Amino acid sequence: MRAWLMPEGCDGFDKIHLADLPDPEPGPGEVLIAPRAWSINYRDFAVAAGKYFGGPITEPSIPLSDGAGEVIAVGRGVNNVVVGDKVQGSFFLDWMDGPQAMGRALGDGKAPGMLAEKVVLPQQGVVKIAQSLSYAEAACMPCAGVTAYNALFMGGRPVGKGSRVLVLGSGGVSMIALQLAKAAGAEVIATSSSDAKLERVKALGADHLVNYKSTPEWGKHIAKNFGGATQVVEVGGTGTLQQSINALAPEGEIALIGVLSDGEPPHPRQLMMTGGSIRGIFVGSVRMAKDLNTMVDEQAIKPPIGATFGFDEAIAAYAHAWGPDSFGKTVITLD
Ligand SMILES: NC(=O)c1ccc[n+]([C@@H]2O[C@H](COP(=O)([O-])OP(=O)(O)OC[C@H]3O[C@@H](n4cnc5c(N)ncnc54)[C@H](OP(=O)(O)O)[C@@H]3O)[C@@H](O)[C@H]2O)c1
Repeated sequence: MRAWLMPEGCDGFDKIHLADLPDPEPGPGEVLIAPRAWSINYRDFAVAAGKYFGGPITEPSIPLSDGAGEVIAVGRGVNNVVVGDKVQGSFFLDWMDGPQAMGRALGDGKAPGMLAEKVVLPQQGVVKIAQSLSYAEAACMPCAGVTAYNALFMGGRPVGKGSRVLVLGSGGVSMIALQLAKAAGAEVIATSSSDAKLERVKALGADHLVNYKSTPEWGKHIAKNFGGATQVVEVGGTGTLQQSINALAPEGEIALIGVLSDGEPPHPRQLMMTGGSIRGIFVGSVRMAKDLNTMVDEQAIKPPIGATFGFDEAIAAYAHAWGPDSFGKTVITLD
């Protein structure tokens, strides 16, 4: 089979290369999947650059956490899927339900990665895709989709009618969060560095738009003009956290997710004045992935795919996702 590989010591996505590898076989309790589509997450750049939690890649490994495809064989004892099922991987292979539990994470350089023609996963890390989605759309869900779902619905005040959700930038997590929040009946405030992208964000249903470049004090602007955010999908990191705190409505909640920008971390005392809170998010569980897929089917949600590349064009896909023209999810497909 063909697979993309990150070499030992990989220090950038441009170093990944195509390789011919032996076809994997499923052992007991394992599922053999033929992925048909994949999506790129910001985290995949960090892994390929050797800057993810585990440090540089110590042995050649297959990249990407997110893929969707067809079950083509199952090992002895597998009882949750059958050959022919359409499935996705779960970002965390061992976090089934309940409180946060990290463990093995797809595509981190140690656990299996998805960017190959065949992948073996333990059955508990295999989830049936939403029936209404194509493989390309389903491939957007394991990391970005589940993270957005966790941020919006698993906190102390789940998003619903009367919520006012702030999403930062027009990347994958934020655009899926926008769609989920709208489907739940919330008002959505969205930011971007680009007025052209804000038009696309508006077309996805955002109620209020702010260009965070031309409105550098966007946090206060949102509190003053739109009544503040009851939830913030905080993908910016230390470079945006102060503004997100400024944007909070009383008792608002920040879902702490991303590391897109650097800056001086804010002093948390402002949260005391407003009763605000910050909740850390690390993608989510298999249960959240299943519940998200149910919601996607019920609400007819289609994740926004900004660009699609072929399997041979993986490096170009990474480059696009990294570049200024990316919007929503960047996808790789086999077809
Ligand atoms: N904790 C977790 O479980 C988890 C899970 C998924 C992702 N993440 C993290 O969340 C972040 C987003 O991930 P992603 O995959 O959605 O990224 P992505 O799709 O690559 O998002 C890129 C977009 O982020 C926006 N952006 C960049 N700098 C920004 C800033 N200073 N303020 C506001 N927006 C900014 C830009 O939007 P515009 O071009 O519109 O300005 C850019 O197009 C990353 O840091 C990622 O590592 C964490």
